[in-house]
Amino acid sequence: MKILESDFAKGFINMANDGNNMGWHERNGGNLSYRISGEEIRSVKEDLSYGPWRDITVSVPGLAGEYFMVTGSGRYFRNILADPEKNTGIIQIDETGEKYRICWGLKESVPTSELPAHLLNHEVKKEITRGNCRVIYHAHTTNIIALTFVLPLEDAVFTHELWEMATECPVVFPDGVGVLPWMVPGGREIGLKTAEKMREYDLVIWAHHGMFAAGCDFDTTFGLMHTAEKSAGILVKVLSMTPRKRQTITDDDLRRLSKEFHVKLREEFLN
Ligand code: 13P
Ligand code: ZN
Repeated sequence: MKILESDFAKGFINMANDGNNMGWHERNGGNLSYRISGEEIRSVKEDLSYGPWRDITVSVPGLAGEYFMVTGSGRYFRNILADPEKNTGIIQIDETGEKYRICWGLKESVPTSELPAHLLNHEVKKEITRGNCRVIYHAHTTNIIALTFVLPLEDAVFTHELWEMATECPVVFPDGVGVLPWMVPGGREIGLKTAEKMREYDLVIWAHHGMFAAGCDFDTTFGLMHTAEKSAGILVKVLSMTPRKRQTITDDDLRRLSKEFHVKLREEFLN
């Protein structure tokens, strides 16, 4: 089968297009990666050709031999639908977990500059979900970014505010969200810190920059990003009207909700 006929490539392109339509991908902002299953990669093997090995700059032995579909560095999400082969590609990780090679696409390009963060996150999530987690998504979500200028950069504060601003939030991300202070993007350091947070959360906020989301498939991961960003948008609206909420979803309401929906909220984030 041709890569562009496969369900995983169609799902990837569709999600990139949805993210672009949300306004989260100005210029080349944001990036997406998908860990391709053995069955999926076998079904497209006639369409693969292997380039030279290149350094990843981080070590991900837990991903040895794995294949990923990734967005290209400097490429624009708005162009992915029209030309996936130029703006995205497929890479394989070597047996040491220190090198990758391009097997399809990424014409005149290389994988996203956030490849270290994506792969370190995949390695952690693959381990703790026993292989279930396949998608890592980075987006420049406007309202979350705005909030990182006014709220304390603490996991507990962001989690509580986001849970409180929309009833579905505690159900969608009961583990909460992690927050990192501003750091230089595109490198090993921010990748390692993000992966540390991914041990506890499926969502990590990069202050003054955006968010990383992890999930088992495209719908779940996009839905997670969308839900958190929508909640952030409601908080921005409320704070723009008044510094004080007149009424809200209380912590006891959150506890009742968690009971009804059979989700376990992190008790340390409730008052
Ligand atoms: P890339 O174009 O290299 O993916 O970088 C975009 C980005 O959002 C960096 O954080
Ligand atoms: Zn970014």
